[in-house]
Amino acid sequence: MKMDKPAGGSDPALSNDLHVAVIMDGNGRWAQNRGWPRLVGHRKGAERVRELVNACPDLGIRYLTLYAFSTENWSRTTEEVLGLMSLFGRYIKREAGRMKTEGVRMRIIGDRSPLDPKLQALFDWIEADTAGNDRVHLTVAINYGGRDEIRRAAQSVARAVQAGALDAAAITDQVMSRHLDTGALPDPDLVVRTSGETRVSNFLLWQAAYAEYVFTPVLWPDFTPDTMKTVLDGFAKRERRFGGVLT
Ligand code: IPE
Ligand code: IPE
Ligand code: MG
Repeated sequence: MKMDKPAGGSDPALSNDLHVAVIMDGNGRWAQNRGWPRLVGHRKGAERVRELVNACPDLGIRYLTLYAFSTENWSRTTEEVLGLMSLFGRYIKREAGRMKTEGVRMRIIGDRSPLDPKLQALFDWIEADTAGNDRVHLTVAINYGGRDEIRRAAQSVARAVQAGALDAAAITDQVMSRHLDTGALPDPDLVVRTSGETRVSNFLLWQAAYAEYVFTPVLWPDFTPDTMKTVLDGFAKRERRFGGVLT
């Protein structure tokens, strides 16, 4: 028997409202294996994002959260960092029309304050432009780190306490969750990492407390909607207990 889960997520057995989060890894290796610049791998990766977003309704994914740039990724070359930033902007401009017609609501999580103001304005615009959509919730993590997010949430909670709007004793898990960048989203049911690495790399540290993890050797630029279907079939067979016992 399936156990009840804590508030914040959805039971895949009961609905088509899965929240799947993906650490899209392996773009650089995919390109380098072919003797191509790393940015070619990132471009191919962006095509896979487009395909996956379009396939979400068929796959039963209502919430798709993608790790695109971590707070640690600034340590890459300027060329790669700038290439990624321009890719994010191009993706939004190119896909905005389709997101509108397909009912995709886009959110960007992470600390956007150090990003190019033009890119920040584009983030604000696409979030507002798709705010009325509810069929697929696409969330992209850019300059995102789980620790940084929890730190910023703690600051915002502390400010509320300082202002007298919140009692310290009233800081529940739900209050913390609401102050995170993902405040409007349920917790992920499943976190997938591609490219064979078996680490979390600072992704959704709070939210994934009871997520299932799948690590696949497939490099992100080779990850198709069919690959996701296979991953989801495996996930459906898992038994989630949420700390309880089977009865
Ligand atoms: C993931 O692919 C994309 C980002 C981190 C931006 P990588 O660029 O990390 O690819 P590998 O791990 O070097 O192959
Ligand atoms: C994680 O991949 C971040 C993203 C996919 C955006 P990395 O390639 O940056 O992670 P590490 O360095 O292997 O931990
Ligand atoms: Mg990597």
